[in-house]
Amino acid sequence: MRAMTEVFAGKHLVLGLSGGVACYKSAQLVRLLVQAGATVQVVMTEAAEQFITPVTMQALSGRPVYGSQWDAREPNNMPHINLSREADAMLIAPCSADFIARLVQGRSDELLSLMCLARPMDRVPLLLAPAMNREMWAHPATQRNLAQVAADGALVLGVGTGDQACGEVGDGRMLEPEEIMEELAAFFTPKLLQGRQVLVTAGPTFEAIDPVRGITNHSSGKMGFAIARAAREAGAQVTLVAGPVHLRTPRGVQRIDVQSAQQMFDAVHQQLPQAGVFIATAAVADWRPAKASDQKIKKDGSGQTPTLTFVENPDILAAAAQSEPARSGRLYCVGFAAESHDLLQHASAKRLRKQVPLLVGNIGPATFGRDDNALLLIDEAGTQELPHASKSLLARQLVAEIARRLPPVR
Ligand code: C5P
Repeated sequence: MRAMTEVFAGKHLVLGLSGGVACYKSAQLVRLLVQAGATVQVVMTEAAEQFITPVTMQALSGRPVYGSQWDAREPNNMPHINLSREADAMLIAPCSADFIARLVQGRSDELLSLMCLARPMDRVPLLLAPAMNREMWAHPATQRNLAQVAADGALVLGVGTGDQACGEVGDGRMLEPEEIMEELAAFFTPKLLQGRQVLVTAGPTFEAIDPVRGITNHSSGKMGFAIARAAREAGAQVTLVAGPVHLRTPRGVQRIDVQSAQQMFDAVHQQLPQAGVFIATAAVADWRPAKASDQKIKKDGSGQTPTLTFVENPDILAAAAQSEPARSGRLYCVGFAAESHDLLQHASAKRLRKQVPLLVGNIGPATFGRDDNALLLIDEAGTQELPHASKSLLARQLVAEIARRLPPVR
């Protein structure tokens, strides 16, 4: 979560809890927010206090919890005004079906609804993380109410699917705390890529030798996934073509899994006509075995070793950068380079050879699998270094640099 501090440091959030088993997840959410540098003012409804105690929430947030509109701790006895003025956002998590109905009606007979009504709407956005049984979620009344609160300006974060506390399975689970953090981060990020379609490749490729063996590399995909996440947070529609990696898909990103370079090439070229930006972070195998054996290659006891012959894989980035949309300025291509030595020289040559406007060098030596990196940006104007930082901060900085270089959205 260290990477989240760039987004949350100095932010002040009001976290409202209404009644629901998901209140236990809100405890973890407070921890994550506080760790990321935010201050969190917790406000609880009476129903929420049936599920988790104000003591827990006070301990985790480091601030007294409020639960009543009558509160002598406030000199003017107006917690609904005092607590709702300085917030950068109000988040209701969990937001119960009943609380949504209260918002629709503009009720103000308890502190949390009162604060939602009394908040300055132009300065303090309201985000809702619903949580309820699947039948309650699917009920037309709830769906009607959700549409109304969205029309009134609230941002409804959506729900998860799966096992519910009641034993049923379906839609209506509150998003996990980490997912809510991602949604909040996206919410607070400037929308530099609004209206853009961004295609990203990430991870290694796997080139089969036979059904059980293959050739791959140490790419973890972390940089590419961080870029996909940052682009989505910046408002882009993002498609991520991923080789075999063990990473969670960033929220809101469309992911296409592939294995081989050829599959990655095919997936990219299927998506490219829609894309305005192509960012190739994948560590694509340059060669593949000329023919993958249909059956496992067996040792025959003779001591003889098999001989592999290779053919060259298509260069996904070069093909994209030399396509008509790229040459006519409708597609902006960004390449990556991982070099063991002479980064500037090799990366500059690669930029020219592949004809990409922007080439990003990993300032190594070995960044595979790590959570940090440093980058060297090379374009026709020269070079620029993004100093050592978390991959997620670097991804945000790179997204801003790319956005700066794009032609205006048509
Ligand atoms: O030629 P090299 O592999 O060093 O180039 C690295 C850059 O080219 C990266 O952006 C990588 O994603 C891309 N690439 C590609 N298809 C290949 C090889 C590399 O898109 N077959």
